[in-house]
Amino acid sequence: MTTVGILTGGGDCPGLNAVIRAVVRTGAKHGFDTIGVRDGWLGLVVGNVEPLTDYSVTGILPKGGTILGTSRTNPFKNEADVQRLRDNIRKFGIDAIVAIGGEDTLGVANRLSQMGVPVVGIPKTIDNDVAATDYTFGFDTAVSIVTEAIDRLHTTAESHHRVMVVEVMGRNAGWIATVAGIAGGADAILIPEIPFDLDEVASHLRARYERGKKFSIVVVAEGARSVEESRLDKKAFKKAREQMSGSIGYRVAREIQDATGLESRVTVLGYLQRGGTPVAFDRVLASQFGTAAANMLAEGNYGKMVALQDNRLVGVPLENVANRIKSVPVDHRMIETARDVGTCLGD
Ligand code: F6P
Repeated sequence: MTTVGILTGGGDCPGLNAVIRAVVRTGAKHGFDTIGVRDGWLGLVVGNVEPLTDYSVTGILPKGGTILGTSRTNPFKNEADVQRLRDNIRKFGIDAIVAIGGEDTLGVANRLSQMGVPVVGIPKTIDNDVAATDYTFGFDTAVSIVTEAIDRLHTTAESHHRVMVVEVMGRNAGWIATVAGIAGGADAILIPEIPFDLDEVASHLRARYERGKKFSIVVVAEGARSVEESRLDKKAFKKAREQMSGSIGYRVAREIQDATGLESRVTVLGYLQRGGTPVAFDRVLASQFGTAAANMLAEGNYGKMVALQDNRLVGVPLENVANRIKSVPVDHRMIETARDVGTCLGD
């Protein structure tokens, strides 16, 4: 094997360029040429590629985003695209692929692997919801961004005696909300894994107010839902959310203000959580994932995703992670910590 194709798929996040740099440099040690595939799997469908050399990756380690671009293209949505992808793998002489992405990107990688294409996956997402790895790169940077935002919101909440609701990303998992909520000292953290009862939240905030704490911080994961909503089937839930004015953070703030009389305001952090330079932990984790993936290719160890498990880098079969997500276990140590420091989790 001599030529490796590398692509970044799904939502971008800080650390992607550190991975690309590590794959190119480690691959060169094994005598590999690396071809950069632009815009995720789309680049292989349409043949949008570029050679990556040491010069291409010099200085990109601290750079946010991805120099290759990304997309949410899934070639298996259209049989013709799969054939075009396979034709392009042959056309560009790609012997193996390094796919950097979340559960959807890795799902495509798994299907290609099962068709005989040598693939190694690398878990990427700010959500930290990829199965079988303790961490994905991008997560710690997002947590740092949210923590800094919470610190800033503390001062204005305290000055105005307000409840500040901070809505964070994480898709259908509550990792960002849980960990950044603990780091920022949130008074309440609402996550998809623990359906919330707004009355519980309201009484917690009222009790705080009575104790003389005239302000509160509530972190709400974008996928959080109430107990009632958790009983709805997918279709009914989707319909209910389409009729909801504003995102969940706005609804929670409205309901808190109505229930407690405490003035409430909302900050939706959105794409700030995916922007900018990676923190040191993510730079190192991304570099380790990239070097491990290139070394696995050199060993002929395909069909795997590089993962961090109990502080060790391992390879896990792609079929074990494809199209699955890792939710926050309700008995996770982070949940216990939040409860032990008196954080309301809405239950
Ligand atoms: O998966 C990362 C993520 O930022 C999620 O947290 C968020 O729900 C989603 O991507 C947003 O998707 P898009 O970038 O397509 O708007």
